[in-house]
Amino acid sequence: MWNSIFAFTTLLLFEFTLGIDIFGGTFLKYVDQYKKSYANHPDELHSRFNIFKENLMRIEKLNQPNNKSTAWYGINKFSDLTPEEFKVSYLTDWKPHHHPLKTQNHVTQTEKLYTLGIPEKLDWRDFKNKSYVSQVKNQNSCGGCWAFSTAEVMESMYAIQKHLTPPDLSVQEIIDCSLYNAGCTGGDTCAAMEWLIDSHVPVVTDKDYPLTDTSENCKLLPTSSTGVKVMNYTCNSYLQNEHDMLMLLSNGPLTVSVDATLWANYQGGIIQHHCGYTINHAVVIVGYDLTGDIPYYIVRNSWGPDFGIEGYLHVKIGENMCGIAGHVSTLHVV
Ligand SMILES: *[C@@H]1O[C@H](CO)[C@@H](O)[C@H](O)[C@H]1NC(C)=O
Ligand SMILES: *[C@@H]1O[C@H](CO)[C@@H](O)[C@H](O)[C@H]1NC(C)=O
Ligand SMILES: *[C@@H]1O[C@H](CO)[C@@H](O)[C@H](O)[C@H]1NC(C)=O
Repeated sequence: MWNSIFAFTTLLLFEFTLGIDIFGGTFLKYVDQYKKSYANHPDELHSRFNIFKENLMRIEKLNQPNNKSTAWYGINKFSDLTPEEFKVSYLTDWKPHHHPLKTQNHVTQTEKLYTLGIPEKLDWRDFKNKSYVSQVKNQNSCGGCWAFSTAEVMESMYAIQKHLTPPDLSVQEIIDCSLYNAGCTGGDTCAAMEWLIDSHVPVVTDKDYPLTDTSENCKLLPTSSTGVKVMNYTCNSYLQNEHDMLMLLSNGPLTVSVDATLWANYQGGIIQHHCGYTINHAVVIVGYDLTGDIPYYIVRNSWGPDFGIEGYLHVKIGENMCGIAGHVSTLHVV
């Protein structure tokens, strides 16, 4: 797969360089494959084509160093957006509630990871042949990643604590009702958890309070004495101490905040270059893998199952990669 993506982008760049009329070909196929709404609007089609070409150049750069031990990038549903458009639609205006931003590289001694006495591999999607993780969600253009990741960890903790299949909880309820956050325009997972504790509000199912992907008025259901409540939570930083994140993962998935600026065209592999520390997204770690040369976290995203590795990414453990160790939360539910 890595080779074919690489060959594809290289071929496209080659066509551009030679000025081959790709407009009638590959880009139109892209527009068709992703059912882009501007397919029949020549002006926008033209401007999107130019953006697409710029993204191919960016993808080519991100694919350096081009070897299999690192992440690779390629064309996907976001490849016709400018970085600014991507930021506005899919990243969040991060509003840390009570934790200062830590914006640098912090190295954890990774040798220690192998002497913790924990399993070499943990994946809550397949834990003793049972999944404690719901299907990958899609936030679309709502900057509510903080609510998605909070709800996702609640689902998994509920399933783990009760030995049940994870429920699909209402992310929309958290987006609409959480007083300490700003709905689809931004928020913070710790603030969301604090609000869930302070308010004693139970989170109902997605079926009872469905996702609309816009911020709306809070419609707490009259019946909402039933639902999942947060009992307690922790919100800490594990800089230079990512071993403790692995230990925490043995209790269940974690919410983390990250810099996802360069994640848009991620396709697979372990992210270990090309990531900064400007926090603008929240995701969930559902496991880790220490069996290969590069130890990595298994990271659940909320950009749909057609993003990355069936909705997931792999991020290197031990270097606060993308700021992943700076804001880490766990919770228990009742
Ligand atoms: C991949 O590329 C990096 C940077 O050029 C290099 O350090 C590393 O050894 C390479 N890995 C493999 C497996 O070739
Ligand atoms: C999981 O399923 C596999 C294949 O069916 C089986 O060999 C294995 O023993 C199971 N593991 C557990 C922990 O149940
Ligand atoms: C939260 O509650 C659980 C279950 O009672 C308990 O095991 C855990 O230690 C508590 N965590 C915190 C941070 O209070």
